[in-house]
Order: sequence, then C-alpha cells, then structure tokens
Amino acid sequence: MEKMLLRRESLPRTLGVNTVVEPDWRQALPVLAGRSITLRELRLTDAPSLLALLSTEEGARCLSPAPATIEGFERFIAWTQRERQAGNYMCFGVVPHGMDTAVGLFQMRQTEPGFSTGEWGFAIGSAYWGSGIFVEGAQMLLDFAFDVIGVHRLEARAVVQNGRGNGALRKIGALQEGILRRSFLRNGEYLDQVLWTIIGSDRQQSRGYDGPMVH
Ligand SMILES: CC(C)(COP(=O)(O)OP(=O)(O)OC[C@H]1O[C@@H](n2cnc3c(N)ncnc32)[C@H](O)[C@@H]1OP(=O)(O)O)[C@@H](O)C(=O)NCCC(=O)NCCS
Repeated sequence: MEKMLLRRESLPRTLGVNTVVEPDWRQALPVLAGRSITLRELRLTDAPSLLALLSTEEGARCLSPAPATIEGFERFIAWTQRERQAGNYMCFGVVPHGMDTAVGLFQMRQTEPGFSTGEWGFAIGSAYWGSGIFVEGAQMLLDFAFDVIGVHRLEARAVVQNGRGNGALRKIGALQEGILRRSFLRNGEYLDQVLWTIIGSDRQQSRGYDGPMVH
C-alpha cells in the first residue's frame, strides 16, 4: 500500500524552529533556509538567470540539454509545478542570500510510488562551483527527502567523465554501487554512468551542518 507522502509526526524533529510546513508538499514546496542559501520552488522569474547559468557548455556537458531560451525555461518551470502537484517530482531553486533569483536547482523524482525510493539530480551555475553552495543545498535537500518525505533510498547518476559531479556525490556521503553501461545518450553517443546511492539509515554520519530552517 502506498505510504503517506508526508508524515506529520516527523516534521518538527529535524527542521528547527519557525517550522511551518504545508501539510502536503504537493500543494506547495516549503522554503528551506540555510546559512548562505535558500531552497524554494522555482518561479517563472528565475528563467533568465537559469538560462544564463545552466545553458553553458561546461554546465551542460554531462547533462541532458538544458532549455536554450527563456521561454524554454519558463515551460520547464511550469512543468516542475505540474509534476509537483501530481506528487511525482519536486524541484528546488538555489537562491543565495541577498539574491532574488535561482542560480541552480536540486530536483528529485519518485522511482517507486509514495517516494520510498527516488532519484535526485542537481546543477549549479559554474560561477558558484567550489563555493560550498552545493554541499549546503544537498544536505538540506537530503534532510527534507529522508526526514520529511520519508524517502528510504535515493539514487543519483553521473556520467563517468563528470569529475565534479562524481566528486560532489562522493563528498556528501553517497556510495558508488556500480556502473550503468551505455545508459546515457549524449550527442549521439551512449556514455557509462556511475550509480550513487544514499540509504536513509546510513546517512547520520554524513550530517555536518546545523539543519535547515523551514518557513
Ligand atoms: C555537480 C555540481 C552541482 C557540484 O557542485 P560543485 O560546487 O562543483 O561541487 P564541489 O566543488 O563542492 O565538490 C566537487 C568535488 O569534486 C572534486 N572534483 C573536481 N573535479 C574532479 C575530478 N575530475 N575528479 C574527481 N573529483 C573532482 C572537487 O575537488 C570537489 O571535491 P573537494 O571539495 O573535496 O575538493 C556542479 O559541478 C554542477 O552543477 N555541475 C554540472 C551539472 C552536473 O554535472 N550535475 C551532476 C549530475 S546529477
């Protein structure tokens, strides 16, 4: 039987003071406030910033092609909201404190009904690589996934040639389970991907920050 998507009793345990979370994230994603960034739902006004930061060659090298126009990003943002309402998927924009628009995103989709298992992915504008934003945002997303949504197992894939992507996943405590041979088509070529996983019960040791504040 499909389990409840949001377990009310688990909410106040990890999410700090000022915790007010919509009873169902499908109605609206919460705002997760960290030390230097906020994670919040994407807005149409994020489209120009995401286009400028994520549609670059280095940003897209190991990803599916990003939209190539502002309108394309607006359609993507509208799609993320429809999929969230359907309970299949969520996408948080990464907004550094002092800014209004997103400079990256963390997304997560269910791979089993009820989000018992899911897959996540992320992209941040290259101007912010190595800044610590990734680690902070990843830990906030992981806390939300495991402690609020009730995810049990979270998978991520990164093509073998993606040194930063694989290094980032290793750094936040994901474990490499194997190689998915010729699993990603890019520019007409099938590339191998590394399969990384995080199991909820394993990750206590990788916690290294104060926890998000949720508004
Ligand atoms: C993936 C991404 C979000 C990571 O953010 P980031 O700020 O670059 O990550 P960090 O710098 O915190 O961590 C990357 C780690 O990989 C390491 N690294 C970099 N190049 C590497 C390489 N070729 N081989 C191994 N490790 C490498 C870095 O040294 C760093 O580890 P360290 O901090 O211990 O030195 C960002 O690079 C990005 O948006 N890339 C494009 C999208 C993408 O590839 N997404 C992943 C697919 S899901």
